[in-house]
Amino acid sequence: MIPKVELHCHLEGSIAPALARELAARNGLDLPSGLFGADGHYVWRDFWSFLAAYDRVCTVLRTPRDFGDVIYSYLAGVAAEGAVYVEMFCSPERPAALGISYAAWLEALAEGIDRAHREFGIVGRIIIICIRHLGPERALAMAEAMVAEPHPYVVGFGMGGDEAKFTPADFAPAYRLAHDKGYGCTVHAGEVVGPESVWAAIDCLPVTRIGHGVRSADDTALMAELARRGTVLEVCPGSNVALGLYPDRASHPLHRLIAAGVPVTLNSDDPPFFHTTLGNEYDKADLDDAALRHIARTAVDASFADEATKQRLLKEIGS
Ligand code: ADE
Ligand code: ZN
Repeated sequence: MIPKVELHCHLEGSIAPALARELAARNGLDLPSGLFGADGHYVWRDFWSFLAAYDRVCTVLRTPRDFGDVIYSYLAGVAAEGAVYVEMFCSPERPAALGISYAAWLEALAEGIDRAHREFGIVGRIIIICIRHLGPERALAMAEAMVAEPHPYVVGFGMGGDEAKFTPADFAPAYRLAHDKGYGCTVHAGEVVGPESVWAAIDCLPVTRIGHGVRSADDTALMAELARRGTVLEVCPGSNVALGLYPDRASHPLHRLIAAGVPVTLNSDDPPFFHTTLGNEYDKADLDDAALRHIARTAVDASFADEATKQRLLKEIGS
Protein backbone atom coordinates (compact mmCIF):
# COMPACT_ATOMS: atom_id res chain seq x y z
CA MET A 1 0.00 0.00 0.00
CA ILE A 2 1.37 3.43 -0.94
CA PRO A 3 1.83 5.66 2.12
CA LYS A 4 -0.56 8.58 1.75
CA VAL A 5 -0.64 12.15 3.01
CA GLU A 6 -3.70 14.36 3.31
CA LEU A 7 -3.57 18.16 3.41
CA HIS A 8 -7.22 19.00 2.75
CA CYS A 9 -9.99 17.47 4.83
CA HIS A 10 -12.58 19.34 6.91
CA LEU A 11 -13.19 18.10 10.45
CA GLU A 12 -16.98 18.14 10.41
CA GLY A 13 -17.00 17.18 6.73
CA SER A 14 -15.33 13.91 7.72
CA ILE A 15 -18.25 12.76 9.91
CA ALA A 16 -19.63 9.55 8.44
CA PRO A 17 -23.44 9.15 8.62
CA ALA A 18 -23.07 6.35 11.20
CA LEU A 19 -20.98 8.61 13.45
CA ALA A 20 -23.51 11.47 13.04
CA ARG A 21 -26.25 9.08 14.22
CA GLU A 22 -24.11 7.90 17.13
CA LEU A 23 -23.27 11.44 18.27
CA ALA A 24 -26.91 12.56 18.00
CA ALA A 25 -28.04 9.57 20.10
CA ARG A 26 -25.29 10.14 22.66
CA ASN A 27 -26.31 13.78 23.00
CA GLY A 28 -30.04 12.98 23.17
CA LEU A 29 -30.73 14.89 19.94
CA ASP A 30 -33.09 14.21 17.08
CA LEU A 31 -31.26 14.06 13.77
CA PRO A 32 -31.81 17.29 11.84
CA SER A 33 -34.66 16.84 9.38
CA GLY A 34 -33.62 16.51 5.77
CA LEU A 35 -30.06 15.50 6.69
CA PHE A 36 -30.27 12.00 5.25
CA GLY A 37 -31.88 10.72 2.08
CA ALA A 38 -33.65 7.36 1.74
CA ASP A 39 -30.28 5.78 0.88
CA GLY A 40 -28.82 6.86 4.25
CA HIS A 41 -26.45 9.40 2.70
CA TYR A 42 -26.30 13.16 3.26
CA VAL A 43 -28.65 15.12 1.03
CA TRP A 44 -27.57 18.21 -0.92
CA ARG A 45 -27.84 19.46 -4.53
CA ASP A 46 -25.20 22.08 -5.23
CA PHE A 47 -22.34 23.91 -3.54
CA TRP A 48 -24.60 26.15 -1.44
CA SER A 49 -26.93 23.36 -0.30
CA PHE A 50 -23.80 21.32 0.45
CA LEU A 51 -22.62 24.11 2.81
CA ALA A 52 -26.09 24.06 4.42
CA ALA A 53 -25.95 20.25 4.82
CA TYR A 54 -22.49 20.65 6.37
CA ASP A 55 -23.97 23.08 8.91
CA ARG A 56 -26.77 20.61 9.70
CA VAL A 57 -24.28 17.82 10.43
CA CYS A 58 -22.49 20.15 12.84
CA THR A 59 -25.59 20.33 15.03
CA VAL A 60 -24.93 16.79 16.36
CA LEU A 61 -21.72 18.07 18.01
CA ARG A 62 -22.18 19.30 21.56
CA THR A 63 -19.17 18.54 23.77
CA PRO A 64 -15.37 18.73 23.49
CA ARG A 65 -15.29 14.92 23.53
CA ASP A 66 -17.47 14.86 20.37
CA PHE A 67 -14.85 16.83 18.44
CA GLY A 68 -12.08 14.55 19.73
CA ASP A 69 -14.03 11.47 18.67
CA VAL A 70 -14.56 12.92 15.19
CA ILE A 71 -10.86 13.48 14.54
CA TYR A 72 -9.95 10.11 16.08
CA SER A 73 -12.54 8.34 13.97
CA TYR A 74 -11.29 10.02 10.78
CA LEU A 75 -7.63 9.31 11.49
CA ALA A 76 -8.37 5.67 12.37
CA GLY A 77 -10.24 5.14 9.09
CA VAL A 78 -7.72 6.86 6.86
CA ALA A 79 -4.78 5.10 8.58
CA ALA A 80 -6.37 1.82 7.45
CA GLU A 81 -6.04 3.14 3.87
CA GLY A 82 -2.32 3.82 4.34
CA ALA A 83 -2.35 7.45 5.44
CA VAL A 84 0.68 8.40 7.52
CA TYR A 85 0.08 12.14 7.96
CA VAL A 86 -3.09 14.26 7.93
CA GLU A 87 -3.64 17.98 8.36
CA MET A 88 -7.25 18.54 9.35
CA PHE A 89 -9.10 21.82 8.73
CA CYS A 90 -10.69 22.71 12.07
CA SER A 91 -12.93 25.74 12.52
CA PRO A 92 -13.17 27.25 16.02
CA GLU A 93 -16.55 28.75 15.04
CA ARG A 94 -18.55 25.64 16.03
CA PRO A 95 -17.11 25.10 19.51
CA ALA A 96 -17.31 28.86 20.14
CA ALA A 97 -21.04 28.83 19.33
CA LEU A 98 -21.46 25.98 21.84
CA GLY A 99 -19.67 27.90 24.59
CA ILE A 100 -16.65 25.55 24.45
CA SER A 101 -13.39 27.42 25.04
CA TYR A 102 -10.67 27.36 22.38
CA ALA A 103 -8.32 25.62 24.84
CA ALA A 104 -10.85 22.91 25.80
CA TRP A 105 -11.65 22.24 22.14
CA LEU A 106 -7.95 21.94 21.22
CA GLU A 107 -7.30 19.66 24.18
CA ALA A 108 -10.06 17.31 22.99
CA LEU A 109 -8.74 17.34 19.41
CA ALA A 110 -5.20 16.68 20.66
CA GLU A 111 -6.48 13.73 22.71
CA GLY A 112 -8.08 12.27 19.56
CA ILE A 113 -4.87 12.83 17.59
CA ASP A 114 -2.76 11.20 20.32
CA ARG A 115 -5.11 8.22 20.57
CA ALA A 116 -4.96 7.64 16.80
CA HIS A 117 -1.17 7.99 16.86
CA ARG A 118 -0.81 5.47 19.70
CA GLU A 119 -3.11 2.95 18.04
CA PHE A 120 -2.24 3.37 14.35
CA GLY A 121 1.00 5.36 14.12
CA ILE A 122 -0.68 8.08 12.04
CA VAL A 123 0.39 11.69 12.67
CA GLY A 124 -2.40 14.27 12.81
CA ARG A 125 -2.06 18.04 12.84
CA ILE A 126 -4.52 20.94 12.85
CA ILE A 127 -5.04 23.86 10.49
CA ILE A 128 -7.28 26.52 11.97
CA ILE A 129 -9.69 27.70 9.32
CA CYS A 130 -11.94 30.69 9.17
CA ILE A 131 -15.13 30.73 7.15
CA ARG A 132 -15.09 33.19 4.29
CA HIS A 133 -18.78 34.08 4.19
CA LEU A 134 -18.68 34.99 7.90
CA GLY A 135 -16.44 37.92 6.96
CA PRO A 136 -12.98 39.39 7.63
CA GLU A 137 -13.61 40.51 11.24
CA ARG A 138 -14.40 36.97 12.35
CA ALA A 139 -11.39 35.71 10.40
CA LEU A 140 -9.10 38.15 12.17
CA ALA A 141 -10.60 37.15 15.54
CA MET A 142 -9.85 33.49 14.72
CA ALA A 143 -6.24 34.31 13.81
CA GLU A 144 -5.83 36.38 16.98
CA ALA A 145 -7.15 33.53 19.14
CA MET A 146 -4.82 31.10 17.37
CA VAL A 147 -1.67 33.15 17.94
CA ALA A 148 -2.67 34.04 21.53
CA GLU A 149 -2.86 30.37 22.56
CA PRO A 150 -0.29 28.41 20.54
CA HIS A 151 -0.55 24.62 20.55
CA PRO A 152 2.12 22.26 19.15
CA TYR A 153 -0.43 20.51 16.90
CA VAL A 154 -1.76 23.73 15.36
CA VAL A 155 0.52 24.25 12.38
CA GLY A 156 -1.38 26.39 9.92
CA PHE A 157 -4.11 28.85 9.04
CA GLY A 158 -6.63 28.62 6.22
CA MET A 159 -10.05 29.65 4.94
CA GLY A 160 -13.00 27.73 3.46
CA GLY A 161 -16.60 28.72 2.90
CA ASP A 162 -18.31 30.59 0.08
CA GLU A 163 -15.60 31.70 -2.33
CA ALA A 164 -17.95 34.19 -4.02
CA LYS A 165 -18.15 36.32 -0.86
CA PHE A 166 -15.61 39.09 -0.09
CA THR A 167 -12.14 39.16 -1.72
CA PRO A 168 -8.82 37.65 -0.57
CA ALA A 169 -7.51 41.18 0.14
CA ASP A 170 -10.22 41.55 2.81
CA PHE A 171 -8.58 38.72 4.74
CA ALA A 172 -4.99 39.95 4.38
CA PRO A 173 -4.79 41.22 8.02
CA ALA A 174 -5.75 37.78 9.41
CA TYR A 175 -3.30 36.01 7.10
CA ARG A 176 -0.51 38.51 7.76
CA LEU A 177 -0.83 37.89 11.49
CA ALA A 178 -0.78 34.09 11.07
CA HIS A 179 2.16 34.24 8.65
CA ASP A 180 4.17 36.65 10.81
CA LYS A 181 3.76 34.29 13.77
CA GLY A 182 5.17 31.39 11.73
CA TYR A 183 2.00 29.54 10.70
CA GLY A 184 1.80 28.01 7.23
CA CYS A 185 -1.05 29.44 5.16
CA THR A 186 -3.49 28.02 2.64
CA VAL A 187 -6.80 29.26 1.20
CA HIS A 188 -9.68 27.77 -0.78
CA ALA A 189 -9.68 29.39 -4.24
CA GLY A 190 -10.38 28.38 -7.82
CA GLU A 191 -13.12 25.94 -6.83
CA VAL A 192 -16.49 27.61 -7.47
CA VAL A 193 -14.89 30.80 -8.82
CA GLY A 194 -12.49 30.86 -11.79
CA PRO A 195 -8.76 31.61 -12.18
CA GLU A 196 -9.19 35.26 -11.14
CA SER A 197 -9.89 34.02 -7.62
CA VAL A 198 -6.54 32.15 -7.54
CA TRP A 199 -4.70 35.18 -8.93
CA ALA A 200 -6.22 37.35 -6.18
CA ALA A 201 -5.28 34.77 -3.53
CA ILE A 202 -1.61 34.50 -4.56
CA ASP A 203 -1.32 38.26 -5.07
CA CYS A 204 -2.84 39.26 -1.70
CA LEU A 205 -2.21 36.43 0.76
CA PRO A 206 1.03 34.81 2.05
CA VAL A 207 -0.04 31.33 0.96
CA THR A 208 2.18 28.45 -0.16
CA ARG A 209 -0.82 26.25 -0.96
CA ILE A 210 -4.23 26.68 -2.56
CA GLY A 211 -7.26 24.60 -1.55
CA HIS A 212 -8.57 23.12 -4.81
CA GLY A 213 -7.22 25.71 -7.28
CA VAL A 214 -8.31 23.43 -10.10
CA ARG A 215 -9.89 26.27 -12.07
CA SER A 216 -6.30 27.45 -12.65
CA ALA A 217 -6.31 24.94 -15.49
CA ASP A 218 -8.49 27.44 -17.43
CA ASP A 219 -5.55 29.91 -17.51
CA THR A 220 -2.18 28.90 -18.98
CA ALA A 221 -0.39 31.94 -17.55
CA LEU A 222 -1.70 31.12 -14.09
CA MET A 223 -0.52 27.52 -14.30
CA ALA A 224 2.92 28.80 -15.33
CA GLU A 225 2.93 31.22 -12.38
CA LEU A 226 1.93 28.50 -9.88
CA ALA A 227 4.67 26.26 -11.28
CA ARG A 228 7.22 29.11 -11.09
CA ARG A 229 6.32 29.91 -7.48
CA GLY A 230 5.99 26.25 -6.48
CA THR A 231 2.51 26.94 -5.09
CA VAL A 232 0.98 23.58 -4.27
CA LEU A 233 -2.63 22.74 -5.10
CA GLU A 234 -4.67 20.65 -2.68
CA VAL A 235 -6.64 18.86 -5.39
CA CYS A 236 -9.81 16.96 -4.44
CA PRO A 237 -11.11 15.36 -7.66
CA GLY A 238 -13.98 13.39 -6.08
CA SER A 239 -15.27 16.56 -4.40
CA ASN A 240 -15.02 18.54 -7.64
CA VAL A 241 -16.95 15.92 -9.61
CA ALA A 242 -19.57 15.50 -6.85
CA LEU A 243 -20.12 19.28 -6.72
CA GLY A 244 -20.53 19.37 -10.51
CA LEU A 245 -17.40 21.38 -11.42
CA TYR A 246 -16.59 18.62 -13.92
CA PRO A 247 -18.93 15.96 -15.29
CA ASP A 248 -16.58 13.06 -14.49
CA ARG A 249 -13.03 12.17 -13.45
CA ALA A 250 -11.92 11.87 -17.09
CA SER A 251 -12.64 15.59 -17.64
CA HIS A 252 -11.04 16.67 -14.36
CA PRO A 253 -7.88 18.80 -14.96
CA LEU A 254 -5.60 16.86 -12.54
CA HIS A 255 -3.45 15.51 -15.38
CA ARG A 256 -3.33 18.85 -17.21
CA LEU A 257 -2.12 20.58 -14.05
CA ILE A 258 0.61 17.95 -13.60
CA ALA A 259 1.64 18.30 -17.26
CA ALA A 260 1.93 22.07 -16.78
CA GLY A 261 4.34 21.53 -13.89
CA VAL A 262 1.96 22.68 -11.14
CA PRO A 263 2.73 20.81 -7.88
CA VAL A 264 -0.39 18.85 -6.89
CA THR A 265 -1.53 16.73 -3.98
CA LEU A 266 -4.56 14.42 -3.68
CA ASN A 267 -7.18 14.91 -0.98
CA SER A 268 -10.73 13.98 0.04
CA ASP A 269 -12.23 17.35 1.25
CA ASP A 270 -15.48 16.13 2.87
CA PRO A 271 -15.31 12.41 2.09
CA PRO A 272 -18.72 11.01 3.15
CA PHE A 273 -20.54 13.92 1.51
CA PHE A 274 -18.78 13.17 -1.77
CA HIS A 275 -18.80 9.37 -1.53
CA THR A 276 -15.04 9.19 -1.49
CA THR A 277 -12.03 8.52 0.74
CA LEU A 278 -8.35 9.43 0.51
CA GLY A 279 -7.57 5.88 -0.62
CA ASN A 280 -10.23 6.16 -3.31
CA GLU A 281 -8.66 9.41 -4.57
CA TYR A 282 -5.28 7.71 -4.94
CA ASP A 283 -6.91 4.66 -6.59
CA LYS A 284 -8.96 6.70 -9.08
CA ALA A 285 -6.27 9.22 -10.04
CA ASP A 286 -5.19 7.13 -13.04
CA LEU A 287 -1.52 7.52 -12.07
CA ASP A 288 1.14 4.84 -11.60
CA ASP A 289 2.75 4.01 -8.25
CA ALA A 290 5.79 6.23 -8.85
CA ALA A 291 3.55 9.23 -9.64
CA LEU A 292 1.42 8.57 -6.56
CA ARG A 293 4.50 8.36 -4.34
CA HIS A 294 5.68 11.62 -5.89
CA ILE A 295 2.32 13.19 -4.94
CA ALA A 296 2.64 11.92 -1.36
CA ARG A 297 6.17 13.39 -1.20
CA THR A 298 4.93 16.70 -2.60
CA ALA A 299 2.32 16.72 0.17
CA VAL A 300 4.97 16.15 2.84
CA ASP A 301 7.11 18.98 1.41
CA ALA A 302 4.08 21.29 1.31
CA SER A 303 2.86 20.28 4.75
CA PHE A 304 3.24 22.54 7.74
CA ALA A 305 4.92 19.81 9.81
CA ASP A 306 8.26 20.42 11.52
CA GLU A 307 11.40 19.49 9.58
CA ALA A 308 12.18 16.29 11.56
CA THR A 309 8.65 14.96 10.97
CA LYS A 310 8.94 15.76 7.26
CA GLN A 311 12.25 13.89 6.93
CA ARG A 312 10.84 10.85 8.74
CA LEU A 313 7.72 10.81 6.52
CA LEU A 314 9.76 11.18 3.32
CA LYS A 315 11.82 8.15 4.34
CA GLU A 316 8.64 6.18 5.03
CA ILE A 317 7.14 7.07 1.63
CA GLY A 318 10.26 6.26 -0.38
CA SER A 319 10.58 7.11 -4.06
N1 ADE B 1 -16.08 23.77 3.56
C1 ADE B 1 -16.15 22.42 3.55
N2 ADE B 1 -15.92 21.95 2.31
C2 ADE B 1 -15.70 23.02 1.52
C3 ADE B 1 -15.41 23.19 0.15
N3 ADE B 1 -15.28 22.15 -0.68
N4 ADE B 1 -15.29 24.45 -0.31
C4 ADE B 1 -15.41 25.49 0.52
N5 ADE B 1 -15.68 25.39 1.81
C5 ADE B 1 -15.82 24.16 2.31
ZN1 ZN C 1 -12.29 22.15 1.32
